[in-house]
Parts: sequence; structure tokens; C-alpha cells
Amino acid sequence: MSPAALPDAPTFTDRRDAPFHGKDILSVRQFSRQDQEYVLRVAHEMRNLVARIGSFDLCRGKILANLFYEPSTRTSSSFAAAMERLGGSVISINEVRYSSVAKGESLPDTVRTLESYADVLVLRHPEVGAAAQAAHYCKKPVINAGDGVGEHPSQALIDLFTIREELERIDGLTVTLLGDLRYGRTVHSLARLLCSYKVTLRLVSPESLPMPPEICEELRAAGLSFTQHTELDEVLAATDVLYVTRVQKERFADVEAYEAVRGAYVITPETLRAAKPEMIVMHPFPRVGEISMDVDDDPRAAYFRQIEYGLYVRMALVAMVLGRA
Ligand code: CP
Repeated sequence: MSPAALPDAPTFTDRRDAPFHGKDILSVRQFSRQDQEYVLRVAHEMRNLVARIGSFDLCRGKILANLFYEPSTRTSSSFAAAMERLGGSVISINEVRYSSVAKGESLPDTVRTLESYADVLVLRHPEVGAAAQAAHYCKKPVINAGDGVGEHPSQALIDLFTIREELERIDGLTVTLLGDLRYGRTVHSLARLLCSYKVTLRLVSPESLPMPPEICEELRAAGLSFTQHTELDEVLAATDVLYVTRVQKERFADVEAYEAVRGAYVITPETLRAAKPEMIVMHPFPRVGEISMDVDDDPRAAYFRQIEYGLYVRMALVAMVLGRA
């Protein structure tokens, strides 16, 4: 068939003026409150579209490269599912030891290779700043899927979306972040996002794993009301959102230090007796014992719904950076 005889493919024009078109997503600090509300609106629309029609061709012909130097279940598979639902395709390098990285290839060379094939790159890496470094070398948008103990911006937007979908508001809530606040990148990103809202933040952690001082400084500078605790009992009854995190074993140099704090907090049905009936329990997952499985059937357990919301937020982010939102 000659090119002239080829049938026209259905097209969606790129919106050059669309927010975040062609941009990297490296940190939640890039998102003003207006930007956050835009993401939540687009994600809500994605939720409705998936419920109505499942998949659609918003990003048909586009390719996403998933490049993961650290293990992942949710982030890698939800970005892949998001691109498939948007009608695009995915290149997955989820095991870098089977790629040329194992032969010593540098991050810049890997990124510059993948940008030749893909329209957007999703990167998880153990080092803080790796996503920014990749973005420096990559002409295509880079989405930070977690850089060491740094940030996990798409997860924080999912967390915000979960709160909004579940409780229909964010302003006025008391949010308690529980567990490993020192190494947990999801709580670093979420705390920063919450600076845009009128929330009360309770930070509950073992003494050795507090929220880093630079993030506390950002909270203070934003005028956010927060207190720090080691006991959940002190704050649970007034909590609207209980965000539980895993102690990050892989970030400890010393196994004994990890063993000393692992299991510091375990949420059980007994714990929830002291909580509000309309409180929600969130967790970015994976969980390794911080929330008993006996809690899963409690309607307040929002963590599996939170995982589903991840699909809609990542669909929104991919469509946004590709100019299709
Ligand atoms: N929440 C999260 O980042 O999960 P994964 O490590 O499975 O991607």
C-alpha cells in the first residue's frame, strides 16, 4: 500500500500550553496548590473514564520507558498499566542487572539510549538526585519514581488524591505520619505537599527515625502546625488520616539498629478502637508487619484503594507530560 493510500490514524493533538507538557516531574516542590488541584481533577477524570470504558487512545503511538534500579511492584506496574490504559506502549527494564547497566553502563548513557526509543522515562534509583541527573541528560520528560531517601512525587500525589477521594477535603484535617520518617521518601514528599493546605500534622516515629530537620524547617517556613511524638496514643483519637510507613531495612548500614526499631508500631483492630469511625488508614506499601492483616476488612483501611488510585494519578501524570491532558 502506498503511503498516500494508508488510512488516517486517529490523532490527538498535543496541547503545547497544557500544564507540565514536556516537563520533568522530579519533586513535589514543582507543584503549586493550583497544580496539585489540576492533577487531582485530571486523575478523577481518569478514574471515571477507566470505570466507563477501561482503556482509550489518549496516548496512542507514545512509548513509556520504565527504568528501575531498585525493586518495585506498585510504581513500575502502575506506570505500565497507566500507559497501556492510555493506549500507549511500555519498555520495561525492571531488572537492571539484565541490562547493560550490569556491564558498567552509566546512568547518562542508559538514559540517552532510552530517550531514542521512548517519549517519557520513569526512573527509580537508590541515589538521591539520580532523577535530576537523568533529566539533565534526557531530552524527553523524566518522572522520578523514587530516588533513594529523597522523594517519590507521584506517590505523594496519589496520597493526596486518596485523601481527597476518601474524605472529600484536605483542609482542616489532622494527618498523622507514623513510622520511619527519617528514611521514608513517601512521607518526605507528602509532608512537603501538605504545606499547601491548612492541615495539622502529627509526626510519630522512634527517636532514632525522626523527620529530617530540613523538612521540619520547610514545614515551619510554610506555617504548618505540627508536633513530634514517639507514642501513637498521644495523637490517635484526633487523627483523620493515619499514614503508616515501613521501617526501611535497606537504608540501614547496621542490622542491629534496624532490629531495634522494626515492629515499633503495629496497627491492629485493637489500635483502631481508639480512632475516629471515619478515620482512614493509609500505607504506601509494601507493608512488612506494620498493619495487621486483621485490619484489612475494616472500612477505614484505605490502603488497597490507595493502590488503585495510583493508576489514575499516574495516568494523569503521563498524559500531562505528553501534552494530552
Ligand atoms: N509505594 C511504592 O513505591 O511501592 P513499590 O516500591 O512497590 O513501587
